[in-house]
Amino acid sequence: MVMARGKFITFEGIDGAGKSTHVEGVAAFLRERGKNVITTREPGGTPLGEHLRALLLHEKMHLETEALLMFAARREHIALLIAPALERGDWVISDRFTDASFAYQGGGRKLSLDKLRALEQWVHADLQPDLTLLFDVPLEVARQRLDQSRALDKFEQEQQAFFAGVREAYLQRATEFPQRIHVIDSTRPLDDVSRQLEQLVSAL
Ligand code: TYD
Repeated sequence: MVMARGKFITFEGIDGAGKSTHVEGVAAFLRERGKNVITTREPGGTPLGEHLRALLLHEKMHLETEALLMFAARREHIALLIAPALERGDWVISDRFTDASFAYQGGGRKLSLDKLRALEQWVHADLQPDLTLLFDVPLEVARQRLDQSRALDKFEQEQQAFFAGVREAYLQRATEFPQRIHVIDSTRPLDDVSRQLEQLVSAL
């Protein structure tokens, strides 16, 4: 019997949108339905990827270096974790993936989309998420949520104009890929959001 490929789900949104709160909830929901689920994150997800994450979140660097390191970490993540898991039939949930590069390095830092597309083509031409949950909140709400959390990393310390660009680029991606990307209004109560997420992943 040929094993069916597992499903690949990604969570996206500006910092403070509340996506990370829901990753384990969706994973638990799927596990109760008999799926083998792996949760992971970007940048990171592998030993080398986590080293790169520490650099990316805390060191100043040229914006192209930043984009290249994001995709270097992603290359490793796909090779070591994502692709083998999907081939085994497991489901993979990643807290961020390539849409984040288009949003942060593209919309936030204004790196050309052509360069990002070239990197995407190089690193994962034949792999796209089956479903992307884009957690969306107004910038002021996100900022408030962030201020209540821990010490801020390099990205979280950016100004509102940066996040406006990030949010706009995410919403633009959602318009471009309406089949894959679902915008979640993350200002609603947690339970309402959880129920919507369960419906969306059930439809897969
Ligand atoms: P985040 O996912 O928000 O983790 P935490 O909840 O621990 O803060 O942090 C990752 C940061 O990396 C986030 O600010 C967005 C940024 N990022 C990019 O700029 N480009 C990318 O391609 C990815 C995957 C993340």
